[in-house]
Amino acid sequence: MDYENIYIEEESNLATITIDRPKKLNALNKRTIEELHDAFNELDADKNIQVIIITGSGEKAFVAGADISEFAHFSVADGGKLAAKGQELLFDFVANLSTPVIAAVNGFALGGGLELAMACHFRVASYNAKMGLPEVSLGVIPGYGGTQRLPQLVGKGRAMEMIMTAGMVSAEKALDYGLVNYVVEQEELVPLCQKLAGKISNNSPVAISQAIKAVNAGYSYDTNGYATEIEAFGACFGTNDFKEGTTAFLEKRKADFPGS
Ligand code: COA
Repeated sequence: MDYENIYIEEESNLATITIDRPKKLNALNKRTIEELHDAFNELDADKNIQVIIITGSGEKAFVAGADISEFAHFSVADGGKLAAKGQELLFDFVANLSTPVIAAVNGFALGGGLELAMACHFRVASYNAKMGLPEVSLGVIPGYGGTQRLPQLVGKGRAMEMIMTAGMVSAEKALDYGLVNYVVEQEELVPLCQKLAGKISNNSPVAISQAIKAVNAGYSYDTNGYATEIEAFGACFGTNDFKEGTTAFLEKRKADFPGS
């Protein structure tokens, strides 16, 4: 797929995806969701890529939501399909990706924008970021996982307040809530994400992917987190990464993980 609304930059084992519709505050239209699906799929399959950062272009917005102009005239059936398809193609897809994904929240992260950031494995924000789920102000509810992931991250009461008031929280408040892990000046945002990515990429990609699976299993009704952890833990013992990690430790050298 030729990308119109996103671009990808790669530097050694790190890929950065930038959503590039700044005039529309990077709102997620159908095409952008499809492009993001393809980009994540392609980068996840590339064994050379160990971490993905996602951000928005411009200084104002990460993503200001799903593109309202595309669904304003939808029927009940269309609305249901929009949510189901979006969750399958992007939000659940990112949450369950085996490659770690960091959201660099560089401005407004509203509605589908906050839902995308929450689907990522963790979030870093700049001071100008503002986050919220304003859907009820449009007569709809969050449909890309927001009613589930926001309470998981900030607690039920705070999530209920954010959803019901349709209000935005500042980056500092988001930090206090545990919605983001760090808040930095905008020019330090991507460098900090790159630094964190560097720390991640020192470790076993296979073990990291098993850890993502085990953590996520505890947040899904049809999987048991503890049972998944036991299975994933056992599976690690059959990997070359485990052989290399333990051998390197015993030989007092830095591990060089083959990623298999
Ligand atoms: N969908 C479609 N277009 C959007 C959008 C969205 N979610 N968010 C912003 N845009 C567009 C605006 O329509 C405008 O386009 P135009 O220049 O062609 O008129 C452009 O992006 C710039 O937005 P604007 O509203 O002029 O910027 P602002 O600085 O005055 O306000 C926001 C910024 C984020 C407060 C405001 O754009 C907003 O409330 N956006 C919608 C947020 C939302 O409800 N998201 C959840 C959707 S489910």
